This record gives sequence, structure tokens and C-alpha cells, in this order.
Amino acid sequence: MPIRSHFPTLIYCEPLQKTAAARDRFNTALAAECRQLREFDTAGRKWSAKNYPGGYTSYASMNELHRFSSTFAGLEKKITTHVRAFARALAMDLRGRSIRMTDFWVNIMPPTAAHSLHLHPLSFISGTYYVATPPGCSGLKFEDPRLSKFMAAPPKLPSARPAHLPHVTYAAEAGNVILFESWLRHEVAANRVADERISVSFNFNWS
Ligand code: NI
Repeated sequence: MPIRSHFPTLIYCEPLQKTAAARDRFNTALAAECRQLREFDTAGRKWSAKNYPGGYTSYASMNELHRFSSTFAGLEKKITTHVRAFARALAMDLRGRSIRMTDFWVNIMPPTAAHSLHLHPLSFISGTYYVATPPGCSGLKFEDPRLSKFMAAPPKLPSARPAHLPHVTYAAEAGNVILFESWLRHEVAANRVADERISVSFNFNWS
């Protein structure tokens, strides 16, 4: 067919580490550390009560966890390897340049907590690592960045491939890391299961 695809929007989704046993051990310890942080972080709980109803995030209070916790520093190292692979897939020229994680924070979503549509300013690649994902919990929903420019486009066929649809939802699976370019808008629907959904999110910049 004389048609080519340009301007792709890439989303990266991979297990952080290969062995399931190591993943489960690591996530159990990490989930406990996330809950401890919530206990300890009074300012974060206060901020969340106002801005993240029902949930807890350390985004506005403790957002450089890789500098204070050896668990998060180890996780930063592993995630950075994935970010480099993603940047290569995006054909980004990082020769003679360095990338670094600038923010690293915790999100705990009990039942009803939701995270409305947003993007991540002041960074180039962002992402999430899933720590605890009870069966049936909400995934990560991305929006076509050109949605506001579709003008009079008709709806898509029921048989359209996922790449042609205006939204895509990635299931939240403990042990997976999801990466995207920071301008890509995304949201998490309200958690409708009884258990807490726990994730850690991060931003990267380059220089
Ligand atoms: Ni986000």
C-alpha cells in the first residue's frame, strides 16, 4: 500500500526484572516501604487529602525518594536501563549526553481513588513501576495526543487496530515498568477493588 506511518507515539512496557521469585520478594518489601512512607509523611497525607481524594501520593512532599532510600536507589538503577532502551527506540541522540531521574514518588490508591488526565511537565520520559496490583484494579489509560486536532473525523471502525484508536489502556501488572514521553496525557480510573493499588512513578531529564 502506498501509505506510510509517521510521527509514532511509542509506549514501552516490560517486566523490570526477569525472574518472578525475585520480583515478588522485591515488591513485597517495596509495598511495605511505600506504606511506611505514608505513615511517616504527614505533609504528603495532608496534600493528598486535598488533591488526591481517598489516595496517597508523595508527589508534592517526598518526590526524590531515590536520594533517601536504598530500595528506591536500586530501583532507579534498574529503571534507568529501561529508559535508555526506550530512548534508543525513539532515536534520541544521547551520545555525549547524560540522562537522570529527577523525581521519584509513591502512589497508593485505595478503593475509589482516581488520578485524572495529566502529563508530566519539565521532563522528557516518565513512567511507572507497579508494586501491588490487586486483580481487577484500574490500568493506565493514554490519550491520542492529536485528539484535539481531529476536527470532523468520523469515528473508527469496530474492527480498527488498537494503534488507530483514540485511547489505549495498559493493564497494571505488578513487576512491569511502563514508559512514555512526558507530554503524553494519561489517567487512572477510580480503583473499584477492595485492595490498595500501589505504584511508584518517576520523571527523567537529560543534559
Ligand atoms: Ni502520570
